[in-house]
Amino acid sequence: MKIAIITDIHYGGPDPGAFDVRAVVDKFVHWAQRLEVDLLLDLGDRIDEVDRTTDLANAGELARIFARFPGKRVHLRGNHDVVNLSFGDHEALFGTPAGHQAIDLGETRLLVWQPSVLLDRAVGFPETQPELRWLSRALDDDARPAIIASHIPVSGASMISNYYFEHNDDFATYPDHAAVRSAIADGGRVAMWLSGHVHWNSITQVAGIRHLTIQSASEQFTTMPDPACAYGLLQVDKSIARLEVFGRDPVTWEFPFVPSGDRRWPQPRPRVPRP
Ligand SMILES: [Fe+2]
Repeated sequence: MKIAIITDIHYGGPDPGAFDVRAVVDKFVHWAQRLEVDLLLDLGDRIDEVDRTTDLANAGELARIFARFPGKRVHLRGNHDVVNLSFGDHEALFGTPAGHQAIDLGETRLLVWQPSVLLDRAVGFPETQPELRWLSRALDDDARPAIIASHIPVSGASMISNYYFEHNDDFATYPDHAAVRSAIADGGRVAMWLSGHVHWNSITQVAGIRHLTIQSASEQFTTMPDPACAYGLLQVDKSIARLEVFGRDPVTWEFPFVPSGDRRWPQPRPRVPRP
């Protein structure tokens, strides 16, 4: 099973001198086609918002590039995608469903989870509680080990040294991220969680579930002064997962693909009493 992944393309924006990321997207689409991947996964924030007319034009340009991929595509919505455009706009432009989806990938399933990504700069992202029910039910529905994809990560991992989020870590995740982790831990069926949004490659393990984030296609802060031109390939084969990210910020991770319920993860020890 192979998934080609791209995220945080951030095409457009008000700076006319900014790096033109369309060539990276074009290369990614041709590469995914050559590899005959089972799925092309865009984890969101494909545009940088300007105004409705510009955003429609920029998203439309990307949609035409993505449409060259002949197989199944998933386009999650990121916070920048929805400032001026509706879910229906994205559905119409990209020709793919806007809501949550459970995708059958044979030995595994991809649960595309799309709680609100509307960022309120006063309070951050909204709680995910209403949307968490869909995720819990989808996990209950099928015993296969699951991969979850969301634009915004929920691992609670440190943002120290992250250009955008070290001093804004409340904008890096959902306010109820701990409740999300707790809800998916209950059934023990999740093996992996994939996200974008935080513009770096990262992996962390929470109670037996690997949470990974993938570098933005156009980000520069880890590869100054050049753009990362990042995209990735996830392969799951015989209970081994391998995620490779290409471009100027490359990384490869390989680990057992096992649902968290297959091994007991003990409760962390309580705080040591201090004198
Ligand atoms: Fe984002």
